[in-house]
Amino acid sequence: MTTAKRILCIGASKHIGHHILEYLAPEPQKYQLFVLARTPAEKIESFEGKENVTFVQGDAKDEATVGKVINSEMQGRVDYVLITVGGTIVFNNYYMPCFSDLTLCGTVAQALITAIRDLPSPPVVIGLSSTGILSTRDLLPWPLKPLYRTILHKPHVDKIDMENAISAYPADKWILVRGALYTDGKRTGKYRVGETEVGYTISRRDVADFIIRDCIEGDGKWLGKRPVVVY
Ligand SMILES: NC(=O)c1ccc[n+]([C@@H]2O[C@H](COP(=O)([O-])OP(=O)(O)OC[C@H]3O[C@@H](n4cnc5c(N)ncnc54)[C@H](OP(=O)(O)O)[C@@H]3O)[C@@H](O)[C@H]2O)c1
Repeated sequence: MTTAKRILCIGASKHIGHHILEYLAPEPQKYQLFVLARTPAEKIESFEGKENVTFVQGDAKDEATVGKVINSEMQGRVDYVLITVGGTIVFNNYYMPCFSDLTLCGTVAQALITAIRDLPSPPVVIGLSSTGILSTRDLLPWPLKPLYRTILHKPHVDKIDMENAISAYPADKWILVRGALYTDGKRTGKYRVGETEVGYTISRRDVADFIIRDCIEGDGKWLGKRPVVVY
């Protein structure tokens, strides 16, 4: 009987979810990884241990698809679910940047919660949210406030929907990670974490590091909380 942690990554074909795969896949005795993504497995950039990962192609907004991954592929045995989905930037008719799917995170979170609600042993759900939403708008450095009030306002309404769906799940079984503005910098392992931290940026690799080190391998101190991760 395997004692590896069984982890479902939703939105890991690139960026933070993909970094988590890069870090965990080389250790199949510790982590059994499953990925739900629309991108086919062969088009996802290679990494050490990719052959140890089970890829399922599908849309995570679709309740039936998420239910199938949880109940058929994973046979209802799930320890962690990571939601790292995000939309892409597109330009509207006035050449203003906006996001491709403004209900993505909330819909994916709702589909997931529906799929895991009745599992005998419910997993811990870790959702990627953002700084500057709800009451934390006041905690933003002032030069960033206009950005969060304009371009990021609508995607952040979606993040609030995701936070509401996930935080309605039992209190000891979720973590909502609020990242500052992302960079594609290195994994340093050196950053600040706290519910009221203030800062400008964080690298995607360090967000992945925090999720692994403190949320999956930690002592459980962030369960039921919304840690902010910043430099
Ligand atoms: N950029 C920032 O500064 C910043 C700051 C704080 C928080 N955030 C948020 O943090 C999250 C993670 O960001 P990121 O940059 O690591 O990743 P991202 O580029 O925003 O998201 C990428 C992933 O989302 C997946 N995805 C999108 N729609 C999907 C669907 N319907 N079904 C399944 N997968 C879907 C994509 O996979 P497929 O296309 O293969 O399906 C891809 O792997 C996002 O929600 C982002 O908004 C961003």
